Amino acid sequence: MKLSVPGVRRIPAVSSRFARVVLPAGLALAGLAAATAPSATAAPVDSLRPAQSASAAVLAAPDIPLANVKAHLTQLSSIAAANGGNRAHGRPGYLASVNYVKGKLDAAGFTTTVQQFTSSGATGYNLIADWPGGDPNQIVMAGSHLDSVTAGAGMNDNGSGSAAILETALAVSRAQLQPAKHLRFAWWGAEELGLVGSRYYVTNLPTADRAKITGYLNFDMIGSPNPGYFVYDDDPTIEQTFKDYYAGLGVPTEIETEGDGRSDHAPFKNAGVPVGGLFSGADYIKTAAQAQKWGGTSGQAFDRCYHSSCDTTANINDTALDRNSDAVAYAVWALSAAPVPPTGPTFENLTDVAIPDNGAAVTSAVTVTGLSGNAPPTLRVSVDVRHTWRGDVVLDLVGPSGTAYRLKNSSSSDSADNVIATYTVNASSELANGTWRLRAQDVASQDTGYINGWSLTF
Ligand code: TRP
Ligand code: ZN
Ligand code: CA
Repeated sequence: MKLSVPGVRRIPAVSSRFARVVLPAGLALAGLAAATAPSATAAPVDSLRPAQSASAAVLAAPDIPLANVKAHLTQLSSIAAANGGNRAHGRPGYLASVNYVKGKLDAAGFTTTVQQFTSSGATGYNLIADWPGGDPNQIVMAGSHLDSVTAGAGMNDNGSGSAAILETALAVSRAQLQPAKHLRFAWWGAEELGLVGSRYYVTNLPTADRAKITGYLNFDMIGSPNPGYFVYDDDPTIEQTFKDYYAGLGVPTEIETEGDGRSDHAPFKNAGVPVGGLFSGADYIKTAAQAQKWGGTSGQAFDRCYHSSCDTTANINDTALDRNSDAVAYAVWALSAAPVPPTGPTFENLTDVAIPDNGAAVTSAVTVTGLSGNAPPTLRVSVDVRHTWRGDVVLDLVGPSGTAYRLKNSSSSDSADNVIATYTVNASSELANGTWRLRAQDVASQDTGYINGWSLTF
């Protein structure tokens, strides 16, 4: 059945309450000060500063409450208990699990879709939840398989991932997040039969829609009782996002090696979608070195109850589940946010230049040195012109070649004060180095003003 529904870098320490996600402009700002040409003497122009720092998008990813994640696990455990002890594909405990998760998402304002498929003679279900809004051509997706094996309730495998992405989705709703990219969450059926549900989804997604998924994040076993902290070694941006989160905690990570392609990210990866994810270990044995850095017991499996009846709510390490749940939210927030436009060096002139009333044009010069090649197509021109009737004022940027780029026309009806604005100019046919001028002319009598300062950001 076809679905009715059709996507950074350094992050400082993460506090226990909020993870501050600082997107790359934070970096650029540091470099910017050094590259800023010494300004002419004048009173500091406050309005020029925000125009530069406004691009530093800072947002807070929430701390996902562990208690909420565990409450979902308790519900899934009860569902298994009421349905023959498991939540396996083709068994009633699976559909009951889907309905539990769907009910929470529907109540939180998600658009949910249940996608049916058939595997081993039984109907399977994927649950897809879209958070309304965001760029439909850039989709960030997070998924976890919701089915267990028949041997048990599947609390670590994979109630843990299922509950963590559910609580992250609910946190998106609580925050009424308005991400730049569209957010989609998925709970896969029949993973334990060989990635059946996720493969079905990817196969039936039109190629054009696949290309819109800028990242698929997979969470399968993230609360292992003897945990390791493994990050998938796939898409570099996704990988780095998780590593940044863990670096903020001061917890070392390793690359996930316990069988690449053993979970639902594989069909996405095979279809060319950038993928990543977290994993706390299954039946591989924790080494002495790993126990040294992560604690726990060396010589023992990360999950001794893997695919066994003892994969109950007792088979969860709370610290691992807590950290990984917060990491899910951190990545969802960071990867769905708008990329910050790169900022380059800024040059400015803060010397006042009087603009004569209804008179000749005046200019303020900025000399750019040390850059190579041409100016960018997105040269940013921040101007601060003080005036008592800004409609009198015509502004141009004049490039080193002498070409003028109109920034602002006069307007007899615009009686407001001052022109404090940042314009973007396609200056790509100009050499960056040279003397640039802001040209201002007052074209109507009575009100007057002056250039307070201006800057160019390359
Ligand atoms: N997907 C496996 C399961 O559900 C568990 C698993 C083994 C795994 N190795 C992995 C999951 C590596 C993610 C990454 O039984
Ligand atoms: Zn699993
Ligand atoms: Ca005037």
